Amino acid sequence: MPDYKKDFPLLVKEPTIYLDNAATSQKPECVLEAEKGFYVNHNANPLRGFYPLSMEATDIYENARKKVQQFINAKSEREIIFTRNTTESINLVAYSYGLSNIKKGDEIVVSIMEHHSNMLPWQMVARNTGAELKYLECEADGSVSEETIEKVITDKTKLVACGHVSNVLGRVNPIDKIIKRAHDYGAVVVIDAAQSAPHMGIDVSAMDADFLAFSGHKMFGPMGIGVLYGKEKLLNAMPPFLTGGEMIESVTREGAKYAELPHKFEAGTVNAAGAAGLAAAIDFIEKIGFDVMEEREAALTAMAMEGLKAIPHVKILGSENPSEHTGIITFVIDDVHPHDVSAILEADGIDVRAGHHCAQPLLAHLGVRSATRASIMYYNTEEEIKALIDSAATVRKRMGYGE
Ligand code: ALA
Repeated sequence: MPDYKKDFPLLVKEPTIYLDNAATSQKPECVLEAEKGFYVNHNANPLRGFYPLSMEATDIYENARKKVQQFINAKSEREIIFTRNTTESINLVAYSYGLSNIKKGDEIVVSIMEHHSNMLPWQMVARNTGAELKYLECEADGSVSEETIEKVITDKTKLVACGHVSNVLGRVNPIDKIIKRAHDYGAVVVIDAAQSAPHMGIDVSAMDADFLAFSGHKMFGPMGIGVLYGKEKLLNAMPPFLTGGEMIESVTREGAKYAELPHKFEAGTVNAAGAAGLAAAIDFIEKIGFDVMEEREAALTAMAMEGLKAIPHVKILGSENPSEHTGIITFVIDDVHPHDVSAILEADGIDVRAGHHCAQPLLAHLGVRSATRASIMYYNTEEEIKALIDSAATVRKRMGYGE
C-alpha cells in the first residue's frame, strides 16, 4: 500500500495515531504551501485594489470559487459563498432566508441526527417566527424510513434541514427522498455536508439541494474557510446576512444598494489565503481520487468494526454494516465513561473524540449520554486500527473490571 501519510507533515513528524478525522482532517503539504504562498507572494486585500498585487489576490480568491463550483457541480460561481465554516453557512441561511420566509403556522423539519450547528439555527428561527419545529426521527441503526419522511414533511413544511452524513453514526441519509418530498410541497432543503464533502463526490445539481454547507478544515483544507452553496434564485432574493465593506454597489446617507452575488454575502475582508488552501485541498482530493479514499476507508472501517464488536461490553452505535459508517465508529463500553475510554486510548497514543459530539438530541434519542468516536481517513493504516482494537480491549481491565 502507498505511504499516504508522507503528504502530511504532522503525521510524519508525530508518532500519534490520529483517529479524530471527523473533527478535523490533517493538512497536506500542498495546502500549507498554498496558504503560506498567498501571504509570501500575493498578499493584498482582494476585490478592492487596482494595483497588480491586489488583482493577483482577487484572481486567487475567485479561482478558488471556480474550483469549488466545479467540485460540487454548481451551475454558477454566483452560487458559491465563502464563509468561515459550516456553522456560519447554516446561520447565514437561517438569519437571511429563514427569518424572511418562514412565519407562524409554518413548519420547519430538522432531522434528529443533526449536529447542533444544523439544529440550533432552526430552533432560533422557530422561536423568532412562531413556526413549529418538527423532528425527522431515525431508527436505532440510523435509517430513516419513507413512512417517517412522508409523515413529517407535509404541505405545512417550509424548510427541511438534514445532514448528508451523520457525524455520530456516519450513515448517509436518504437525502434524495427527503429533497423530492420537500420539493413536492414547495419547501426548501438545507443540507449539512460537513461530513460527506471529505469522503465522497457531491453533485448539487443532481441532488437538487437548495442550500448545502461544508467546511474546508474537514477536507484537508485550512480552518476558517467554509462554503455555502445556494440556488441563485434563492440567494438573489435574500437580504444580506452581514453588512459592511465590499458587499455593496453604492452607499448613501440613507442606505445602500447591495452588491450582486456572491459578494452580497461576503462582507469585510475575505479569507483569501484560506480559499487558496481550500483550492489546493480540492486539487489534492482530485489527485488521490475519492474512489481510492473510499476503498481504503471502507476496508479500515470494516476491520475496526469487526475487531471492536468482538470485544465483550463494547457496543457500536448505528448500523451493523460497515459500509453505512463513512469511516465513523462511535461506541460505548459498559460501565466506563467515554472520557475514561479516550484517556486510556490516549495513553496508548490514540486520538479519538469523546463526549456528546455536538449532537445531544441524537444521543438522547438513542438512549446514550455520551460515547467515544473513532473516525477514519484514507491515510490511516491497518496497524493503527489494530492498535485501536487492542487498546479498546484492555479498557475495562484497566478500569478495574474483571473483563
Ligand atoms: N463537527 C465536528 C465533529 O463532529 C467538530 O467532531
